[in-house]
Amino acid sequence: MAKIYRNIAILTGAGISAESGLATFRSSNGLWNNHKVEDVASIEGFQHNPALVHDFYNNLKTEIQQAKPNAAHLALTKLQKEYPAEINIITQNVDTLHEKAENQNVFHIHGQINQAVCLNCGQVLEAWGDVDTETVCPHCQVMGMMKPNIVFFGENLLCMDKVEDILRKCELFISIGTSGVVYPAAGFVQLAKYYGADTVEFTLDTTANNYLFDKHIFGKAGETLPPYIEELIKNAE
Ligand code: OAD
Repeated sequence: MAKIYRNIAILTGAGISAESGLATFRSSNGLWNNHKVEDVASIEGFQHNPALVHDFYNNLKTEIQQAKPNAAHLALTKLQKEYPAEINIITQNVDTLHEKAENQNVFHIHGQINQAVCLNCGQVLEAWGDVDTETVCPHCQVMGMMKPNIVFFGENLLCMDKVEDILRKCELFISIGTSGVVYPAAGFVQLAKYYGADTVEFTLDTTANNYLFDKHIFGKAGETLPPYIEELIKNAE
């Protein structure tokens, strides 16, 4: 008899958004949208050239605003609606495609493109418009201290208390479209497995932490995830 899971954790990475037209990180010679990751996604890069970093995320914001969720995001919506379990989504993605697909319980551990944080007062603000080195914080009125609310290399991840709780409780851990290179997220599967979860990954290429998964499903998530989700739902009926 197929197993019924009471608690499911889903970890997503750039691969789940690839079919929505957004670039992954490690697909083009270590460049991300033609920039070195360390130039646009590290604290040192931001300190060195904040104008370039703002420009980069302002452009990415426009691209993300236009992107639409794909069949993989929508399969998760279906899972959350129809499967009788607590289902949490931990995402490394700064895009908002899970929200656009009306996914619930989404935790953005690497931040969100549509937010900025003031380095002077710590206030996090909704910011779909451009943010730059002259933006004034509406909370503390100080100019030039806004940073995209993206977790750069060298910074702590967000929502980690909640994430640890999710990983301990889950009985099934599903990883979708992440290369398993960037820690701590790459270690989440290990924690889930340690606490007894079944583990499955959806990926195009072999991942760096593949030995921690019980099952590997290769191919585009937009094609491979929907039938898997259908099967899970059918088994729970
Ligand atoms: P990567 O670019 O490292 O990995 C993308 C993964 O998705 C690879 O394993 C691909 O095989 C897989 N993939 C690509 N297209 C796919 C598709 N259509 N269906 C299924 N899988 C597909 O992206 P991440 O693992 O998300 O951090 O990168 C982790 C972090 O590195 C990012 O969150 C980012 C970056 O530095 C921050 O921005 C803080």
